[in-house]
Amino acid sequence: MARPKNDNFLRALLREPVDFTPVWLMRQAGRYLPEYCETRRRAGSFLNLCKDPSLACEVTLQPLARYGLDAAILFSDILTVPDAMGLGLYFADGEGPKFERPLRDEWEIRDLQAPDPNVHLRYVMDAVAEIRRALADSVPLIGFSGSPFTLACYMVEGGGSEDFRTIKTMLFDRPDLLHRILEVTTTAVTDYLNAQIESGAQAVQIFDTWGGMLPAHAYREFSLAYMERIVADLIKRRDGERVPSIVFTKGGGQWLEAIAAIGCDAIGLDWTTDIGEARRRVGDKVALQGNMDPMALFASDEAVRKEARRILAGYGSGSGHVFNLGHGISQHTPPERVSALVDAVHQHRP
Ligand code: CP3
Repeated sequence: MARPKNDNFLRALLREPVDFTPVWLMRQAGRYLPEYCETRRRAGSFLNLCKDPSLACEVTLQPLARYGLDAAILFSDILTVPDAMGLGLYFADGEGPKFERPLRDEWEIRDLQAPDPNVHLRYVMDAVAEIRRALADSVPLIGFSGSPFTLACYMVEGGGSEDFRTIKTMLFDRPDLLHRILEVTTTAVTDYLNAQIESGAQAVQIFDTWGGMLPAHAYREFSLAYMERIVADLIKRRDGERVPSIVFTKGGGQWLEAIAAIGCDAIGLDWTTDIGEARRRVGDKVALQGNMDPMALFASDEAVRKEARRILAGYGSGSGHVFNLGHGISQHTPPERVSALVDAVHQHRP
């Protein structure tokens, strides 16, 4: 199968020449879009949306209908994997994700098993296939997963956390137990991403949202080492095309050289790192994705354009930059502001 008509996103990740700097936004399908809220209302809940391939396909395409985005990202959630491992994911209103059965006891951890993605996460694979058909090779489709450490945070804490006290206590007291969770989760993530690639995902991103709050030595041992194994075991080519991988460790700016060395094609940057400096540090080892502060989208159109141009100029000339935000778009973002951003990025010639 050929590359999509607009393949600038894939070319930038592989540092091949591009026509313009491609742009997509983390959480581009979400609550800041009224049409998303409408579909979610019809579905009854966020999880119903994720578990219905046709509805997941519908909301995946919503931001592409509004804006000239250069990639689609599968609509799902990172926590579907621990849900498939039997932890019982639910969303309490206004409280974010929670698990009915967080992992605490040693016997539960010993019993943990990686799910078969084609059975227990069949609805995700069906969504990937349906989205690829609907996209009809217009732009590439990104598949994704959480990193093993980020998934373990939710699995052990039982939900979001301010201080990660439970998982960090485990890390210092019983590193063997945390390593056991990470081992199983690494198998689960590898199988899950490869199943997405086989179902049609043309690039994959690993979201390591919480790796950045670890001490440096622990980041390498408990997060980066497992992502390295996943990247090594990913399917590299599908239908004759390279399937690039992106690693996004939020708060990982001080470890860019180490991340670039694990074999991924691109690094996602949050907004606290200077993208020009990041490029000098990683050289031609990887492409870079990012990194506008999502809060900049609350400023005027003119301020948004100026900030976009500053980041584009900071990256400099040549391919290897995928424009994005430094984290997910806020649910309070005015949708019109996103048009100003996408247009400003596309007017630039790298
Ligand atoms: O980028 C996309 O458009 C694809 C969809 C996507 C979602 N979640 C949809 C979602 C992706 C890639 C994710 C990843 C995800 N989920 C991460 C890693 C990235 C990050 O943001 O750091 C994490 C940590 C999660 C876990 C999660 N899911 C949380 C903490 C929440 C609640 C956050 C909130 O804003 O309320 C979710 C829910 C969620 N995932 C929503 C969406 C659109 C909001 C659900 C709703 O409609 O109520």
